Amino acid sequence: MTTGEPLIVLESVNKWFGPLHVLQDVNLSIDGGEVVVVIGPSGSGKSTLCRAINRLEPINSGTIIFDGQPLPAEGRGLAKLRSEVGMVFQSFNLFAHKTILENVTLGPIKVRKEKPAAARDRAMSLLERVGIASQARKYPAQLSGGQQQRAAIARALAMQPKAMLFDEPTSALDPEMVGEVLDVMTSLAREGMTMVVVTHEMGFARHAAKRVVFMADGQLVEQAPPDEFFGSPKSDRAKDFLSKILTH
Ligand SMILES: Nc1ncnc2c1ncn2[C@@H]1O[C@H](COP(=O)(O)OP(=O)(O)OP(=O)(O)O)[C@@H](O)[C@H]1O
Ligand SMILES: [Mg+2]
Repeated sequence: MTTGEPLIVLESVNKWFGPLHVLQDVNLSIDGGEVVVVIGPSGSGKSTLCRAINRLEPINSGTIIFDGQPLPAEGRGLAKLRSEVGMVFQSFNLFAHKTILENVTLGPIKVRKEKPAAARDRAMSLLERVGIASQARKYPAQLSGGQQQRAAIARALAMQPKAMLFDEPTSALDPEMVGEVLDVMTSLAREGMTMVVVTHEMGFARHAAKRVVFMADGQLVEQAPPDEFFGSPKSDRAKDFLSKILTH
C-alpha cells in the first residue's frame, strides 16, 4: 500500500435513520498509514461512520472511495472490501463454538482460499504477535475479555486488511485489560497500519493518533493533530466535550 496517499475518502456523505440525519455532509480523507481517532458525544454518529466505511451501513448520498474505488454494493466486490477493511467492535464477536485458532483461520481458508496448514501457521504467528499463542486451542469463553479482544484483532489481521476500523474496542473491558489491547493497537499503528479508531481512551489518541476527528450531531465539527486538538480546541462543542471527559 502507498503511504501518504488517500486510502479512504468520504465526500459529502449523508445518512438518515428515518427522520434522523446521522451523517451530515461528512467529508473526510484518510491517508494510507494514517491513524485517525474519532471522538464525540454518544449518538453523534461515530459508529455509523465506521460502519459506513465497510458498508455495514449503506449511505443515502455522497461517495465513499476505498483504495481508489467507490464502495461496492454487493457480491464479490463487497466480500473483498470486507476482507480488506478489518473491523473490531466493542463486543468481541468471536465464534463461540470454534477455538481461537479456528476463529483466526476461518476467513483465510473460506474467503481467501488459503491452504489450511499455511493459514494455521500465519494464525499462530498473529496470535504470537498479540500475545495469546498459548490460548490457541481454547474456546472464546475460556479467555479473558482482553485476550478475546486480542484474538478478534488477530482474526481481522489474518485477512491481511489494508485498513482497520476499531469501534470502542476497549469499552467493554475491565480496566486492567484495557492496556494490553491498546498496546497491540499502538504497535499496529507504529507498523504503519491505516486505522480509524473510535475510542474514549484519550491517552491512545494523544500518543498514537496522527489526527483527532471530533464529531457532534452527525457532523465533523473539528479535526486536528492531537496536541493541537487537546491543547487548544476551537469549537465550543469540543471544549465542552473535553471539559466533561477530562475532569473524570
Ligand atoms: N439502526 C439504527 N436505526 C435507527 N437509528 C439508529 C440506528 N443506529 C444508530 N441510530 C441512531 O443514530 C445516531 C448515531 O448513532 P451511532 O451509533 O453512530 O452513535 P455513536 O456516536 O457511535 O454513539 P455511542 O458513543 O453511544 O456509541 C443515534 O442517535 C442512534 O440512536
Ligand atoms: Mg458507537
